[in-house]
Amino acid sequence: MTSHLATRLREGTQRSHTATENTAFMKCFLKGIVEVVPFKKLLANLYLVYSTLEAELKDHSEHPIVGKIYFPEINRQSSLEQDLAFYYGDDWRSQIVPLKAGQVYVDRLLEISNTDPVLLIAHSYTRYMGDLSGGQALKHIIRSALDLPCDRGTTFYEFDQIPTIEAKKEFKEKYRHALDSLILDEATILRIVEEANYAFTLNRNVVDELEADVRAVVDPHVFALLTKQDRVGSTTHHHHGQAVPA
Ligand code: HEM
Repeated sequence: MTSHLATRLREGTQRSHTATENTAFMKCFLKGIVEVVPFKKLLANLYLVYSTLEAELKDHSEHPIVGKIYFPEINRQSSLEQDLAFYYGDDWRSQIVPLKAGQVYVDRLLEISNTDPVLLIAHSYTRYMGDLSGGQALKHIIRSALDLPCDRGTTFYEFDQIPTIEAKKEFKEKYRHALDSLILDEATILRIVEEANYAFTLNRNVVDELEADVRAVVDPHVFALLTKQDRVGSTTHHHHGQAVPA
């Protein structure tokens, strides 16, 4: 018995994934333009998102469906706390403020947790599978762009309990298997895929709100050059590229 939810999610969010990779913020990021002000604001908003998501998933850990995708070993809240202390200092808690889009994202998580908790699966998928995939390439870009002291500043991208590429691959297989083994009707599958697309939109809105901070420090001509061309998308199957998912 399989719901094929893993494949439904991958295929059902391909276009959203490509659109996210093609935001100006991400295009600059991938080309090594990582500015500390927008980057630390991104981490602050991810902190608010993950602390909400992880508290709500924990609350539903005994739920017959949601509980099956509760894997506290991938939780990001404490790694984000370490990074925020590094970028903002010890009083980071008093300094971080949600962006408008960050608040909308947090509010959505709280709303579905109360009204329709199976939709939390969509949010777990969208963030954690991304962190375990493309996030690993981003880590190296950030480290060299910001010239970070060793072991500081990219804890968010490090999984102590899943340290190697091999272990990450294995974990992703376990996670996909857990998605596939959920007993769900077609209407619920469609709602979860739709919510995952909305999760991509929420993420896109956060980085779009940070675009002004990037523009403020990047030469307009360079910015135009870096954001001109669209990427095919890392989760899109195509014939010649190297970016076909493993
Ligand atoms: C622009 C930077 C990004 C790059 C270069 C990138 C790259 C990739 C790659 C190469 C994969 C395939 C890995 C695999 O199948 O094992 C992947 C998967 C994934 N990414 Fe991204 N990604 C980026 C941003 C994001 C963002 C911002 C999100 C969500 C907020 C995200 C969510 C996902 C998800 C959910 C998957 C899993 C797809 C599946 O079901 O197999 N990615 N990404």
